[in-house]
This record gives sequence, structure tokens and C-alpha cells, in this order.
Amino acid sequence: MKQINVGIIGTGWCGGIRANTCAASTLVDELHIAEINEDRLKEIISETKPTSASTDYKDIITNDRLDTIIISATPETTHYPIAKEALLAGKHVFLEKPLALTLEEADELIQIQKENNLKFAIGYSQRFNHKFAYAKKSLMEKTIGDPVCVLVSRHLTRSLGKKISGRTNLSLAAMEATHDLDFVLWLMEPAQPVRVYSQSVYGAMKASTGSEDAQWIMVTMDNGVILTIGAGWTMPPGYPNYSSTWVELTGTDGMLVIDDTHRDVIFNTMENGIRLPMSSMPGEPVGHVFAGPMHNETVHWIEAVAFDRPEMCSAEKAKRVMEIYMAADLSVERKEAVTLPLSGLALSSVAAA
Ligand SMILES: NC(=O)c1ccc[n+]([C@@H]2O[C@H](COP(=O)([O-])OP(=O)(O)OC[C@H]3O[C@@H](n4cnc5c(N)ncnc54)[C@H](O)[C@@H]3O)[C@@H](O)[C@H]2O)c1
Repeated sequence: MKQINVGIIGTGWCGGIRANTCAASTLVDELHIAEINEDRLKEIISETKPTSASTDYKDIITNDRLDTIIISATPETTHYPIAKEALLAGKHVFLEKPLALTLEEADELIQIQKENNLKFAIGYSQRFNHKFAYAKKSLMEKTIGDPVCVLVSRHLTRSLGKKISGRTNLSLAAMEATHDLDFVLWLMEPAQPVRVYSQSVYGAMKASTGSEDAQWIMVTMDNGVILTIGAGWTMPPGYPNYSSTWVELTGTDGMLVIDDTHRDVIFNTMENGIRLPMSSMPGEPVGHVFAGPMHNETVHWIEAVAFDRPEMCSAEKAKRVMEIYMAADLSVERKEAVTLPLSGLALSSVAAA
């Protein structure tokens, strides 16, 4: 059996899940970790017993033994420079979203990937949510006919909204709706987006992080299908990092409704009142199983590298998602629909924002 060596840069929430998955995989021989938070590094060392651990990510980049590098660092400004170094070092790269901050950076990373014949995947974990995979299957097998319209409404807790919007000024479209934009574009393949309209609204978050509370996006596809994506990050607590999603997928011969609001397991205690466990987007370990998509996504990546299989969501596909959320932000600013592909003028306006 071919085993691979994996390096992980940033082992906070997501990187911690990925490190534990790698440590448990028989396909992974050596695990090497870099984490700048020394307390967190100690925790992850005790959980995963890595071959090496460092506070300097360059130790991962320069490690010749590695087949792949997983980049799970924050803030999001770290993604492009670290991914560039990892690709230039000749490693297959798995990068958490967002791929980059600008389309030029994304193009540069994709060019380095292609020139070096590397795999380069972006973490759009919802493709590994079994309910979302069922939606894709329904369309592939045409059990609900041809798609007509899709609605995805997702809301996160305010504490998670504060964590995200406190570290980056990227919009709700770029940081949250991005998952569902990737999901619906995946569903609609090979149709392409042609027009985007979006509105955002201020509410409770403005005083703490200056961000909007919610953003809604309508996308028209070249086959006429309408996609509506809503993202909010101002919900009261129901569980740490609780995420609630409702999906309606309408076809010519049927309809699929997905309830991913996590109200199926209700945990009620005198101490904390009602909690909805296993309800974050990546998921969490539950004894010997993992409740959520991030474990399976990481296993898929390990297998893609070990067996030379295609990555699930390539950087090129993630760039398509970037174009839509950038168009959505431009639409908010201009208060009008934006046509795709973005023109040079529109792009310079996005870059200046
Ligand atoms: N796929 C999903 O469902 C999902 C969910 C949440 C977040 N994300 C994405 O994953 C990324 C990570 O999010 P998170 O919530 O795990 O963040 P986090 O802040 O919990 O973890 C990031 C870690 O990176 C470390 N770090 C920062 N700079 C570093 C460096 N130079 N070298 C080594 N370590 C460094 C930090 O100390 C921290 O522990 C984000 O960019 C976010 O967009 C994806």
C-alpha cells in the first residue's frame, strides 16, 4: 500500500479536524504540523503525535519528505502567499477557502499548479455533506427532471459571525455564501452563470465588527435556471458554531427539500437549556464516528494524492465561485445586476473596494 506524508499549516478549528483525520489514516505515514499558537500546538501534538511540529510554517514548505500540504491558517490573507510557496515547492495543495483575495492571485496559483502538474483543491466541505451529495445525485440521475430553480438559506451564530468578520473584511458572500455558491454551481454543471444581483443589510453586527448581518444573492444561469442564496451570521447561540441550512431544489418532474437545520437531535440540560449538537458546518467527532463533512473531505484528499485521483473541487472551480461572490459584492455597491464574466472595468472596481 502506498503511504503518503502530509504537512498541515494552521491547526485551529478546521486544521485540527484535518490533522486528526490524517493521524487516524492508514494511508498517512508521516504527519508534520506547523502552528503559531504554542498552546494550540501542544494540544494538537498530544492528539495526533505528529512526526514533527513547529511554530514556523517554512519547516513544512522546505520538508522534502512531504507529498502534500494542507493549509488551514487564518487570517485569509495568509492563503495566497502560503499556497504559492507550497505549490512552488512542488507539493499537492489542499487550501481552505477562499482560494485568494483577487482573481489575479487565483490565476497565478492555478498557473503554477498547471506548470508543475500538481493537484490543487479548495475546501468546499459541503460537497461531502451526504444530503447535498443526494441533491447532486438526484440531478445526475434526472429523478426530479431538469432543474428550474434552487434556494439555499444558511444562517450561522453571531459568535461565529464575529470570529469571521472580526479577522477579515471579506463579505458574507465571500466567507459564507461561498459554500452554497459552490454547491449550486456544482449541481448546475455544465450550465454557466451569466448575471448576479445581490443585496446586503446591516443589523446587530455593525456595532461590533462593522459587518452586515445578511446578504442575499440571485444568480441567473445561461439555461435560465435561477439560483437564490441567502447567508446570515447573526443568529443567537444554539450550539457553538451552529449552522442552519434550508434547501429547495425544484425540477421539471419533482422537488427536493433538504432540511439541514439540525433540529433532529435536541439536547436539553438544566445548565445550558436547549442545544442542537453536531450542527456546525465542518462537523465534530462523536466517539468512533465523525458527524459532518470535513472528515470525509480530508479522507478524499488523502486518497486523491495517494492513488492519483482527481480532486473534488479544483482551484479552477473555486475561481468560478470567486467571480460570483465578487460580482455579488459589486452588485451590492452599485445597487444593480452585474453581468458575467466581469469586465476589466468591473474588476478594477472590485479591486479598489
Ligand atoms: N470548510 C468549512 O466548513 C470551513 C469552516 C470554517 C472555516 N473554514 C475556513 O478554514 C480556514 C481556517 O478556519 P478556522 O476556523 O479553522 O480558523 P482558526 O482561526 O480556528 O485556525 C487557524 C489557525 O491557523 C494558525 N496560524 C495562523 N497563521 C499561521 C502560520 N503562519 N503558520 C502556522 N499556523 C498559523 C492560527 O494560530 C490558528 O490556530 C479559514 O480560512 C476559513 O475560511 C472552512
